[in-house]
Amino acid sequence: MKVTVVGAGAVGASCAEYIAIKDFASEVVLLDIKEGFAEGKAMDLMQTASLNGFDTKITGVTNDYSKTAGSHIAVITSGIPRKPGMSREELIGINAGIVKSVSESIVKESPDVVLIVVSNPMDTMTYLAHKATGLPKNKIIGMGGALDSARFKYRLAEALEAPISDVDGMVIGGHSDTGMVPLTRLATRNSVPVSEFLSEDRLNQVMEDTKVGGATLTKLLGTSAWYAPGAAVSGLVQAIACDQKKMFPCSALLDGEYGLSDLCIGVPVILGANGIEKIVEIDLTDAEKEHMHKSAEGVKATNKLL
Ligand code: LAC
Repeated sequence: MKVTVVGAGAVGASCAEYIAIKDFASEVVLLDIKEGFAEGKAMDLMQTASLNGFDTKITGVTNDYSKTAGSHIAVITSGIPRKPGMSREELIGINAGIVKSVSESIVKESPDVVLIVVSNPMDTMTYLAHKATGLPKNKIIGMGGALDSARFKYRLAEALEAPISDVDGMVIGGHSDTGMVPLTRLATRNSVPVSEFLSEDRLNQVMEDTKVGGATLTKLLGTSAWYAPGAAVSGLVQAIACDQKKMFPCSALLDGEYGLSDLCIGVPVILGANGIEKIVEIDLTDAEKEHMHKSAEGVKATNKLL
């Protein structure tokens, strides 16, 4: 199982590290445009192999897509991250050109690849990857919801004063500060609805903290986050590589599901060897539907900028 990660920056390198530590892939190719950078990150990571106990072989290459040939899965993290005060949407001008050329180069070398798009604005970049490559719609996945859900669970555990392993919850909708739809109604502590423990006000606070999860970190770090994004991507890669049929909220190209079409947005999907094996349609309340449709309007407005 060969996995390519394009972009050896903080998110790409964390992603390669988590994939290697889980030890399910035979090979990870890390590619970057900066001369020697991916090679350096790969060598540093390989020197953790005996310490962390993995056999995954990580190689680094400078912009040489021939070395990615035959990849089963490729992750696109290329482009610029946001700076404090910036929205993800503001990155479109630079990142669109990069994501288009990267996705075309990957598919040229690996026509059967499953692509995972991480670059922001992620839902629009996922849509762009569809337009640029023409891959079947099950083979392009946007990573946002898995990360946003992890941040949601972190905030829920904090509010509940509970261990995170007790908490479950999911965020659908666009991967943006205003577009996320945290499904508090369905969130549970060990299968008991969280509304049994938390007031409506506290739950609203959890929702708001979740939606600005990325912006909060960008303000603290001066650039966008990488550990949780890298870990979230590695979860998707593992589900596909190991044909786990696990459910994650991911940005998928919709064709009528949730009453939406011709956009990529976060919805629950089943991930397995074929990428998106199924889009799961859950019954939403009227308020959740309205929130989802507003979110879709925002994503479509960003898509128009392409
Ligand atoms: C974040 C970026 C990766 O939310 O979109 O941290």
